[in-house]
Amino acid sequence: MLLEPQEMKLSNGKTITIRSAAGEDALQLAKHRKITAGETYNMARYPEECDYDIDKAREGLTRTAKDPRDFMVTAFCEGEVVGDLGVLTIRDLMKYRHRGYMGISIRNEYCDQGLGSTMVKIAIDQARKNGFEQVELGVFSDNMRAIHVYEKFGFKQYGINPRAFKLKDGTYRDEVIMVNIFST
Ligand SMILES: CC(C)(COP(=O)(O)OP(=O)(O)OC[C@H]1O[C@@H](n2cnc3c(N)ncnc32)[C@H](O)[C@@H]1OP(=O)(O)O)[C@@H](O)C(=O)NCCC(=O)NCCS
Repeated sequence: MLLEPQEMKLSNGKTITIRSAAGEDALQLAKHRKITAGETYNMARYPEECDYDIDKAREGLTRTAKDPRDFMVTAFCEGEVVGDLGVLTIRDLMKYRHRGYMGISIRNEYCDQGLGSTMVKIAIDQARKNGFEQVELGVFSDNMRAIHVYEKFGFKQYGINPRAFKLKDGTYRDEVIMVNIFST
C-alpha cells in the first residue's frame, strides 16, 4: 500500500516529505542504502554489497505499493531519499501472516532530529491498521540510539542471537531480537 504523503520540519529547518517509495524511486533508494551502509556498521550490508539490480528493486517496490498490508515509509529531502523504512510480511504463509518485519535507515546528517521517531510511529500505527498483530526487528546490541527509539514505540527485547554479525575487523556483535506485540 501507499501512504498519504505528509511533511515535517527538522530542527535544521529542512522540510521532509514522508511518503511510500514506489517503483520510480528504486534508483534513489539504492543510492540511499549504499550511503547509509558506508556511514554505520549497524546495517546488514557493507556498501560493496549494495549493488542492487534496479529492475528487480523497481519490481519489488511496485509489488509492495500494490500489497494490501506491506508498505514503505520513505523520507525525502529536496527530492533525495534520506530515510528508508519498510514493514513487510515475514513469510506469506498462514502461520506467519500475523508478523511484519521492520527495517530502518536514516542518513547520518538527518539523524537525531526526530525523523526516526516520526517514521517508526507512522509505521507502527499503519501496521496495526493493516492487520499485522506484531512487528519484529533485529538490531545490533550496541546500537543504543535505535534500541531507545524502538522501546519508545512499544518494542520489547525478547532475546539475543549471539555473534550474529561479524565485522571486517574480526569483532562480533550480538543481535537483539525486538517485537512490538499489538494488544487488541
Ligand atoms: C536509529 C535511527 C533510525 C533513529 O532515528 P533518529 O532520527 O536518529 O532518532 P530520533 O532523533 O527520532 O530519536 C533519537 C532518540 O535517541 C536518543 N539517543 C541518541 N543517542 C543515544 C544513545 N547513544 N543512547 C541512547 N539514546 C540515544 C535521543 O536522545 C533521542 O531520544 P528521545 O526521542 O527520547 O529524545 C537512526 O539514527 C538511523 O537510521 N541510524 C543509522 C542506521 C541504524 O542504526 N538503523 C537501525 C538499524 S536496526
